[in-house]
Amino acid sequence: MFSCGTSVVPSLEPILLKHGNDAGQLLQILTDVQQAFGYIPPEAVNRIAAHLNIPLARIRGVASFYSFLKLEPHGEYRLLFSDNITDRMLGNQSLLDEMCRQLWLQPGKVSEDGLVSIGLTSCTGMCDQGPAMLVNGRVITRLTPQRVREIGDLVRRRIPLEDWPAEYFVVEDNIHRAGPLLSNPFTPGDALRAALGMGEAEIVDAIKRSGLRGRGGAGFSTGLKWAACQQAPGSEKYVVCNADEGEPGTFKDRVLLTRQANWMFEGMTVCALAIGAGRGYLYLRGEYRYLLEPLQDVLQQRREAGLLGRDILGHAGFDFDIEIHLGAGAYVCGEESALIESLEGKRGIPRNRPPFPVTHGYRQQPTAVNNVETFCSAALALAMGVDNFRAMGTEKSSGSKLISVSGDCARPGIYEYPFGVSVQEVLDDCGAVNTLAVQISGPSGICIGPNEFNRKLGFEDLPTAGAFMVFDDSRDMFEVARNFVHFFAHESCGFCTPCRVGTSMLKQTMDKIAEGHGTRHDLAEVENLDLVLQTTSHCGLGRTACNPVLHTLKHFRPAYESKLKSLDFEPAFDLDGALARARRMTGRDDAGAHLKAEDV
Ligand SMILES: Cc1cc2nc3c(=O)[nH]c(=O)nc-3n(C[C@H](O)[C@H](O)[C@H](O)COP(=O)(O)O)c2cc1C
Ligand code: SF4
Repeated sequence: MFSCGTSVVPSLEPILLKHGNDAGQLLQILTDVQQAFGYIPPEAVNRIAAHLNIPLARIRGVASFYSFLKLEPHGEYRLLFSDNITDRMLGNQSLLDEMCRQLWLQPGKVSEDGLVSIGLTSCTGMCDQGPAMLVNGRVITRLTPQRVREIGDLVRRRIPLEDWPAEYFVVEDNIHRAGPLLSNPFTPGDALRAALGMGEAEIVDAIKRSGLRGRGGAGFSTGLKWAACQQAPGSEKYVVCNADEGEPGTFKDRVLLTRQANWMFEGMTVCALAIGAGRGYLYLRGEYRYLLEPLQDVLQQRREAGLLGRDILGHAGFDFDIEIHLGAGAYVCGEESALIESLEGKRGIPRNRPPFPVTHGYRQQPTAVNNVETFCSAALALAMGVDNFRAMGTEKSSGSKLISVSGDCARPGIYEYPFGVSVQEVLDDCGAVNTLAVQISGPSGICIGPNEFNRKLGFEDLPTAGAFMVFDDSRDMFEVARNFVHFFAHESCGFCTPCRVGTSMLKQTMDKIAEGHGTRHDLAEVENLDLVLQTTSHCGLGRTACNPVLHTLKHFRPAYESKLKSLDFEPAFDLDGALARARRMTGRDDAGAHLKAEDV
């Protein structure tokens, strides 16, 4: 990293050149500048604007959208504690307090000497080995009070990050149950060879027959998506792999990217062959930056093996290559149209749909966007034969599914099952006891109690992108929901009013209840808010934002009621409290200087 005083201009030229002086690469350019200087200096903003011939406002607009990009210095060391509920259960808050004590600093502030800042960030995807934190974008897992003290000392002594103990940065895979995806017996090229033996329409047909449905959450038929993209008119077509994995509690793509990257790229290449694409992008969440180099290496190996590039596997005219783009800390960019905006170097605001990406995606061209696990599964289906693939799982959910287990259990980590496994079976396998609740598919998913543990994971019953968070009977489910609600309020992109205002109102309501001022009226209001958010939000984030409260209310109402006042209604604003300053200034505290109960 350059020091903040270094002139930025000489270091900017290679960054701009690396990205082809292309304004469409603005996010990647800004990410590299942030990496080089620790923030995006005004001089860099001016230079980039002049060089790419784009307005300053566009650069500032993009930079201010992404939480990892900073337009002001944020310290030579930027410490961000992961703040998922599972980090909280593992004590992240007392570790943050300890770090603040060590460095004599308040959260959210930069030290006066510009050395360090401390803050919180949304789930880093390390729920199986938390509490975790990011230091200048690099992930550190398994924090303990001892490790926090050591980090404080390294920061105070200004030890460069490269010289910190390597064990801090170890990320484990924690695979406890492997199936065909994780213990894949095939070699790179097997799925492609099978696909090359078919025509384009036949590949799509095979994927349809496999019954494969998207693993990113919505469960749309992959075959239908590829068919729509294949048939859409367009001068260029694109394949995009969604590796944003921002849903708290989900970390299965992290493990696939570590263990099965070759197979994921193989799936993308098969898709390119089927739809006629020449270019692919992997959109990698910023928190997984440590995977960038290993992934680049896999791409290079594939080029050398003739599995990427020109005339793939000697098939004249089959040209396809893949580029990796980094995200910069915005959960909403996992939504496919927001992801495409981000790929184009813009703020990650979801687009109006229709038109859908299959006809108007990247650069308004037909684009197939699929999740990491979907591409791995597509390649697997072709390599093992679609009938064999279809034979796994259930009628409407074929194949296997990776589950990311975290929370109150003896063995958090990754479990691969054929679809149709029951919640209880997963709980038994991961060593969970006295389980009060399981949150399936993250905050936007569903929370179930013990009377539903016989339900099955699959599109027929409990669809899931993979998160499986376990809470035992020592947990307060109100606090779990409150953490999720804070997450949505933080991650709302602010584009549409119902979500921007609604998520913030929901957060205030939960905080009001937590502070002992909640009433039954507040609970009823959540249902009204849900109706507004469901019917008027622009994207899935707003539409699911009330789920955590509604689901926990359904199963764990006493956790809420024990915190409510007996009153039916109490205003969110404490009017009498607000007059306290005026009373102090006037030296009055008599009855006339207070509002009467009936006025409040
Ligand atoms: C707010 C929001 C966040 C999302 N995040 C992700 C994500 O991190 N990864 C993902 O694959 N899909 C995510 N999705 C779903 C994508 O929009 C899209 O459905 C998916 O990438 C399609 O791939 P699939 O068909 O293979 O599942 C998200 C959707 C929403 C509304
Ligand atoms: S629903 Fe929320 S996240 Fe989605 S576009 Fe509207 S403000 Fe942004």
